[in-house]
Amino acid sequence: MDPPQLLFYVNGQKVVEKNVDPEMMLLPYLRKNLRLTGTKYGCGSGGCGACTVMLSRYNPSTKTVRHHPVNACLTPICSLYGTAVTTVEGIGNTRTRLHPIQERIAKCHGTQCGFCTPGMVMSMYALLRNHPEPTLDQLTDALGGNLCRCTGYRPIIDACKTFCKASGCCQSKENGVCCLDQGINGLAEFQEGDETNPELFSEEEFLPLDPTQELIFPPELMRIAEKQPPKTRVFCGDRVTWISPVTLKELVEAKFKHPQAPIVMGYTSVGPEVKFKGVFHPIIISPDRIEELSVISQDQDGLTLGAGLSLDQVKDILADVVWKLPEEKTQTYRALLKHLRTLAGAQIRNMASLGGHIVSRHLDSDLNPLLAVGNCTLNLLSKDGERQIPLNEQFLRKCPEEDLKPQEVLVSVNIPCSRKWEFVSAFRQAQRQQNALAIVNSGMRVLFKEGGGVIEELSILYGGVGPTTISAKNSCQRLIGRPWDEEMLDKACRLVLDEVTLAGSAPGGKVEFKRTLIISFLFKFYLEVSQGLKREDPGHYPSLAGNYESALEDLHSKHHWRTLTHQNVDPAQLPQDPIGRPIMHLSGIKHATGEAVYCDDMPAVDQELFLTFVTSSRAHAKIVSIDLSEALSLPGVVDIITASHLQEANSFGTETFLATDEVHCVGHLVCAVIADSEKRAKQAAKQVKVVYQDLEPLILTIEEAIQHKSFFESERKLECGNVDEAFKIVDQILEGEIHIGGQEHFYMETQSMLVVPKGEDGEIDIYVSTQFPRYIQDIVAATLKLSVNKVMCHVRRVGGAFGGKVGKTSILAAITAFAASKHGRAVRCILERGEDMLITGGRHPYLGKYKAGFMNDGRILALDVEHYCNAGCSLDESLWVIEMGLLKMDNAYKFPNLRCRGWACRTNLPSNTALRGFGFPQAGLVTEACITEVAIKCGLSPEQVRIVNMYKQVDNTHYKQEFSAKTLPECWRECMAKCFYSERKTAVGKFNAENSWKKRGMAMIPLKFPVGIGSVAMGQAAALVHIYLDGSALVSHGGIEMGQGVHTKMIQVVSRELRMPMSSVHLRGTSTETVPNTNASGGSVVADLNGLAVKDACQTLLKRLEPIISKNPQGTWKDWAQTAFDQSISLSAIGYFRGYESNINWEKGEGHPFEYFVFGAACSEVEIDCLTGNHKTIRTDIVMDVGHSINPALDIGQVEGAFIQGMGLYTIEELNYSPQGTLYSRGPNQYKIPAICDIPTEVHISFLPPSEQSNTLYSSKGLGESGVFLGCSVFFAIHDAVRAARQERGVSGPWKLSSPLTPEKIRMACEDKFTKMIPRDEPGSYVPWNIPV
Ligand SMILES: Cc1cc2nc3c(=O)[nH]c(=O)nc-3n(C[C@H](O)[C@H](O)[C@H](O)COP(=O)(O)OP(=O)(O)OC[C@H]3O[C@@H](n4cnc5c(N)ncnc54)[C@H](O)[C@@H]3O)c2cc1C
Ligand code: FES
Ligand code: FES
Repeated sequence: MDPPQLLFYVNGQKVVEKNVDPEMMLLPYLRKNLRLTGTKYGCGSGGCGACTVMLSRYNPSTKTVRHHPVNACLTPICSLYGTAVTTVEGIGNTRTRLHPIQERIAKCHGTQCGFCTPGMVMSMYALLRNHPEPTLDQLTDALGGNLCRCTGYRPIIDACKTFCKASGCCQSKENGVCCLDQGINGLAEFQEGDETNPELFSEEEFLPLDPTQELIFPPELMRIAEKQPPKTRVFCGDRVTWISPVTLKELVEAKFKHPQAPIVMGYTSVGPEVKFKGVFHPIIISPDRIEELSVISQDQDGLTLGAGLSLDQVKDILADVVWKLPEEKTQTYRALLKHLRTLAGAQIRNMASLGGHIVSRHLDSDLNPLLAVGNCTLNLLSKDGERQIPLNEQFLRKCPEEDLKPQEVLVSVNIPCSRKWEFVSAFRQAQRQQNALAIVNSGMRVLFKEGGGVIEELSILYGGVGPTTISAKNSCQRLIGRPWDEEMLDKACRLVLDEVTLAGSAPGGKVEFKRTLIISFLFKFYLEVSQGLKREDPGHYPSLAGNYESALEDLHSKHHWRTLTHQNVDPAQLPQDPIGRPIMHLSGIKHATGEAVYCDDMPAVDQELFLTFVTSSRAHAKIVSIDLSEALSLPGVVDIITASHLQEANSFGTETFLATDEVHCVGHLVCAVIADSEKRAKQAAKQVKVVYQDLEPLILTIEEAIQHKSFFESERKLECGNVDEAFKIVDQILEGEIHIGGQEHFYMETQSMLVVPKGEDGEIDIYVSTQFPRYIQDIVAATLKLSVNKVMCHVRRVGGAFGGKVGKTSILAAITAFAASKHGRAVRCILERGEDMLITGGRHPYLGKYKAGFMNDGRILALDVEHYCNAGCSLDESLWVIEMGLLKMDNAYKFPNLRCRGWACRTNLPSNTALRGFGFPQAGLVTEACITEVAIKCGLSPEQVRIVNMYKQVDNTHYKQEFSAKTLPECWRECMAKCFYSERKTAVGKFNAENSWKKRGMAMIPLKFPVGIGSVAMGQAAALVHIYLDGSALVSHGGIEMGQGVHTKMIQVVSRELRMPMSSVHLRGTSTETVPNTNASGGSVVADLNGLAVKDACQTLLKRLEPIISKNPQGTWKDWAQTAFDQSISLSAIGYFRGYESNINWEKGEGHPFEYFVFGAACSEVEIDCLTGNHKTIRTDIVMDVGHSINPALDIGQVEGAFIQGMGLYTIEELNYSPQGTLYSRGPNQYKIPAICDIPTEVHISFLPPSEQSNTLYSSKGLGESGVFLGCSVFFAIHDAVRAARQERGVSGPWKLSSPLTPEKIRMACEDKFTKMIPRDEPGSYVPWNIPV
């Protein structure tokens, strides 16, 4: 008998697979087998949404098609039988027709690097298929599982909002007031000025959404579904067999035969275990369309829901039931619904099943605690018949007598209705509000004796605090019979803390926070129930104190609202001149259709190999031996490269490639395995056996480095005035310090490269995602002992870089090139997200120590600062980061007597490197922390102290560079005015006086961001412009397109200079073949420097062609080019810019390192939940002086994207290291970058009208980095709110600030009776799970 075929459709095309590998996921299948590379790999763990596609399934019983988004990276292809898959390529393209969502996301400037865009498009597309006119809530919900590291989400929301019924409005008329009518704190909204606020896009141009144009569900699949013979399908792979029963009977039989095989529904629990924990299942049972598993039945006792329903379906069912039934019956349903709204993203909720969720019993399951307190029962079936078991603590603990038997199938779940006088509540706190596993969650239920207020039943379960969901059953038992009062609450807290215990070294860390949450949730429950009792019997139960009600309210969240103000171009400017206009990113449409080609989208080269790394599992050790034999014996393995192969080519500059006899960090590259496929290379890498012997000392933290004097080079120092003398005359002196955690770049495209030996003269081509092609060329040439002219490096575009694709990328490329050259075959190396995060390092953790001498009016007259950065195990750019930190640490302030010193600490961590802002976000925060403390000491607001110390006019920096700060106070004043600072500050005070458990805070931060590279040579740039005989032009330059839109700007430059339409100018990418000897793209100056070179090339051409053009002024470029050709005049020109004057003498501590300064100010307001540490940014206003913007749409995108990245840095992005130096946070599920839920509910960005002309490209300013720092306005706003809480609770004494201000730190700083109640561990009495580095 023929083996069954796997049949499904992709984008309307039938796919029939005869030899199916059950281990194959949809993402690699689409990308490699079908060559549909629009769908991207971002994490492989369901956490980023880059791989989103839409699945459509036909239900023959209801005769309906269900469309839903899924993560292709976690979708086994065997699960696709009878399904229609739609990818980004299937909905539109540039050759035939664009889909409106593709058009709008591009035209609304919702793409930068574009790597997240196909996923965004598909999430939105799936939403529109189900709701052609979605509400804003549906929209943000649909995009909640998609991460974007570039845009800050606002323009994506703008694009998607155009599909909503009334775009720009929340559409909810809560209390009769719509979002457009009410401002924060009841204040008037920011007014848009029409003249200075030209739209960034025009909605009138947009293609209409026409649902009739969408792909239809394939009729063949409908026919098959209708007539599906009830027969199990079996797909056999090399290692795994996939069994798909289509009836319940067959399922039960399969489970009987293979009791150890998992029943795979969504694969969202089994998949990550297989992938990341090495779990292996030789047999997988995956039921398909079994009706009994999708049952929905409701009677007066409750609901029965099929175990196969997806969590999203459960959400919709519950929402419907809650709407229909009286509130007293729906307590459990409401609680479940509350958690289902924030559980994972839309993709996971659509894949994950209720049964899979329950049976997996994850320790942080959101639903299991609620289902358990709600007295749910599980309906099981096996060959022995039906059985019911309670979903209780024993089941959750997997007690054998209360668990499913291996042969049993969970068919459905009974969820009873709640009863009168019964209350159920759900609580959770995570690092991020949405799409983040809970740190602690809880389900709580109480039943009172009829009307008497006496506890009859009480049930409390917690997740996140043990190896599984934990019940506080003894405590609950002891509280039965008690009245619901404060005495009971106090007793309950003490009992629960005794019963639900956490060791100091508990996995996941945050132990004291978790203990506090355990009882904070209890307090919230107490209040919620008290309020419920009052509602039921107002005469009998007291109201909550007014200032306590806020404990129960959700954090302020109004729908997104923004204004953007930028200068319009001079009306006299020619209409065809694009400079200053908000031109869309020229790859925007291609990003949105998936046609934009990134490195790993390039097709395989004949005989291509794959390279993967073996990395050290020890932080500081001697390599005793490396045994490669087993790995080398595996099929498909071609070679394993170690340091001994590279010999003297194993290093370049200060960086070594592969470990020789010692490793210096976990993640140190040990060897590189090369095989004929990625899968085989990875399998072989696991078989490489390295024996280590630990070495002393192990230095991980900055403090340890200081103790061991473990520094790269000696200190760097800048000094001005006389600090010691100034300390003698000041009114007050304070000393303090702040620790700032590192940051992961989290570019969406991981490190990627393809090296192709050309087979002739040793030539080699490197296609790589890098910011620095010349360096790659140099390092590869040196490694291969080739002259540089044989090595060419090509970069079409980069899917985000942020500083992380320079040093390490080059090392990876050198090793990959060595492998390619050795074997004469192309070699591809693409890091997985976890490898990337482990190996590549990120922003430096920082310690700033300060001593400030100041007058009582806030003037800081003396400042002595020490900066330490955790550089990791190799130098990389760390010294330069420290230098930039010292040069920029004054931020916006004139400190007349200043001494600042800095050290790069050598530790046993992966080498840290450049990240957007390059030292300034840390150095600036140290200064602002000091200012904030000075303000507190002086009894002034931090804003007052900021103004007092601010640069105001022409002045000198501490390294004696003269500059004009004229627009700095202007930005400050304008920001104050636009954000209604005083009124809102008063309103914040009022809010805080009225609310005990929610507090608001506001902070305004100025910005002076110096722009420059520090040396003339490093600022040089070159360009090449060709004009062809048809009148079109091709421009090349040395800058890399990594999302910032530099290629778009360069085409704008050519268009202006040559007076040629932008459509006639093309740019193919960056290559060392066209423009040699380039500098790294970074430091905010890429467009500026390269633009001046492009301009120069154009002017050379124009000069050459001037006689021809003036002879035929009415001619076209085609005419002029032909004439030039006929006259033997070259139509190619190089352009050159030698770099800005730039120098700094570190001996003397003076110089002119920067060409210009970007000024700005940002004001943020936040609300915090003092009981959980949650926060929400309510509003942010940013005012920037950006000079003459070349492209306001791109520039606003840079400011906004950087701001959100900064907000992430200072609030939620937390890297966790073990005490042995292993990075735990290796993917989006452990490391939280801001998601759509994090962006401020209101954003107002405005650019000052340009004031002066400068030497820069059309007097513009580079904006790539500066906005990051403004994210600290959120940090200090949180600080302000926490201070209000502490003041109210009478907590005096300093609060040691550190970044990021995570929910943990916020909660623990809002000290109260609960934080006092928890047990504390003696430091040193336990080994903590993680350490701050
Ligand atoms: C990116 C991501 C984010 C997440 N975020 C959250 C979150 O915020 N909160 C949260 O609570 N959870 C979260 N989860 C976990 C998620 O809820 C679970 O993975 C999911 O519910 C499991 O369902 P599934 O259908 O995919 O299970 P599968 O992986 O298909 O199966 C899981 C287990 O259940 C068993 N099983 C499934 N169905 C049956 C049945 N009918 N009878 C017997 N056994 C059965 C299988 O044998 C297997 O052992 C997240 C997961 C991911 C990947
Ligand atoms: S790649 Fe699939 S979710 Fe990230
Ligand atoms: S545009 Fe979203 S990740 Fe770059």
